Amino acid sequence: MKLIDGKQIAATILEEITEEVAKLGDQKPAVTFVRVGEDPASVSYVRNKERAAAKTGIISDLKVFPESISQQELIQEIQALNNNPNVHGILVQAPLPNHIDEGTIFRTVLPEKDVDGFHTVNIGKLCQEDASGSVACTPAGVIELLKRSDITTEGKHVVVLGRSLIVGKPVSLLFLHKGAFGNATVTVCHSRTQNIASIVKQADIVVAAIGRAHFVTVDMLKPGAVVIDVGINRIEDSSRKSGYRLVGDVDFEAAKDIVSAITPVPGGVGPMTVAMLMKNTLRAFQATRG
Ligand code: GUN
Repeated sequence: MKLIDGKQIAATILEEITEEVAKLGDQKPAVTFVRVGEDPASVSYVRNKERAAAKTGIISDLKVFPESISQQELIQEIQALNNNPNVHGILVQAPLPNHIDEGTIFRTVLPEKDVDGFHTVNIGKLCQEDASGSVACTPAGVIELLKRSDITTEGKHVVVLGRSLIVGKPVSLLFLHKGAFGNATVTVCHSRTQNIASIVKQADIVVAAIGRAHFVTVDMLKPGAVVIDVGINRIEDSSRKSGYRLVGDVDFEAAKDIVSAITPVPGGVGPMTVAMLMKNTLRAFQATRG
């Protein structure tokens, strides 16, 4: 069994980005993170993004708004960032409060500054295999993990669990792209799918992105399958100071004995999301140089 060390691979990518940023002139790429409210997971994710930016020499700024901010006020804040030439990338951390429509917010960010790849234009480019857009960070990170682990996907059956805009849909499209790390046969399962276990059992590669702790049990997996676990779930653990620990969507301890390769949680896909965000920010900056 090969443990796919996302932490190590992400560190290598961040080093590569650091070198690129160091070669730039006086002006450095700058990204602004927007967080609404104090959701503990979002606080932690955004902090990781700020740390990665600092490490690579990318300038980052954090704007925090109260949970009570109206959709219109948030739109105006984003428009101000759109109009600021010193901001090259904008990331609005999801999830947003229920009274704010996420799609509307994602579409407010200029496509050129959309380092999340959630704008309609960037999703359209992803569909058309037009490489000039930003690709969503977690899906891009999943493909990069496979690439750097020499796990090709051509002709393989990839089963994606989850159909979100952030992971399930874009990662499915990437697996359909032409090339050695695409060209897959893709099945997307979701909350209304029947007989999920029998579908997962057919998978050469499983991408679990449903957000339910240990949803994928060892009996669902084909021996020798590759498992990419996108889930980051908090479960109670009184032995930890925090009172919780992080686990994936896959029962890692049981799965590791029958799979050919698997990502751990934490230390798998999570750090890759952050690394790909830095890559998108650098690209957004470079695009402004022409
Ligand atoms: N929430 C969970 N993952 C992500 C992500 O990649 N980007 C944003 N903006 N919010 C998220």
